Amino acid sequence: MDIITDIADMQSRSLAARESGKRIAFVPTMGFLHEGHASLLREGRKRGDILVLSIFVNPTQFGPNEDLDRYPRDFARDEAIASAAGVDWIFYPTADTVYPPGYSTYVDVEGGLATVLEGACRPGHFRGVATVVAKLFLSVQPHVAFFGQKDFQQLAVIRRMTQDLNLPVEIVGMPIVREADGLAMSSRNVYLAPDERRQALAIIGALRLAGQAAREGECSPRKLLLLAEGCLHREPDLQIEYVTIRHQATLQETATIDADAVMLIAVRIGKTRLIDNAMLLAKA
Ligand code: PAF
Repeated sequence: MDIITDIADMQSRSLAARESGKRIAFVPTMGFLHEGHASLLREGRKRGDILVLSIFVNPTQFGPNEDLDRYPRDFARDEAIASAAGVDWIFYPTADTVYPPGYSTYVDVEGGLATVLEGACRPGHFRGVATVVAKLFLSVQPHVAFFGQKDFQQLAVIRRMTQDLNLPVEIVGMPIVREADGLAMSSRNVYLAPDERRQALAIIGALRLAGQAAREGECSPRKLLLLAEGCLHREPDLQIEYVTIRHQATLQETATIDADAVMLIAVRIGKTRLIDNAMLLAKA
């Protein structure tokens, strides 16, 4: 497994691999890998001749009061997980390599997709995500790239950006991987104190309660939201940022519950911000 830190080196290796007919599968991450990332790597391993993992904590997607400085990092552990998953190349650039002095070009996905929900709570976040993903695609030159559906809106924004910029990359969304008790895997779970970790289970509780009611025939978004909010309000330290039901492709509010309806939740517990989601009519 090679570790590549230089963008030109990354590009020339990828271009050479493509020229020799190899298919490049790519998993972009910010590191501190968990089982969710491992599931993306396993799928990438199946679907590519060369599997590339990037590890880059992207400063431009963090707001001024967010957790960039304390974002968890453990390269040695990530390297071991990558090696076990059969990664060929880890792309591991520094912030100065990706954004050298004078850097001035950004990718803005405009319109409802990027400005609602996470875009409203975290201004500038998707500009940072779209910019870095475009730069990573140009560096790694993948045929196919894998993203987790936990970051549901991020996946939609990346699909939009890839389509709008005619980037020749197939985007694959992968199912959320959960802990045994239902908490969605996230690098940020490590911030949670034991009692916060327990309270965080209200998120999956709310998604399951609403999903069960929807599958039993409740078709009023308002009633499903009340059920979910009731579940979240039972935990004293949990502050709701949003609980909402949206149409999966547009992320606009939906008046009806159909196969496209997704419930999205963002909460704060102490200093930690968590997001999760579920398709309401999907089998539990
Ligand atoms: O989901 C993530 O880990 C990041 O947002 C991504 C897509 C690697 C861009 O920095």
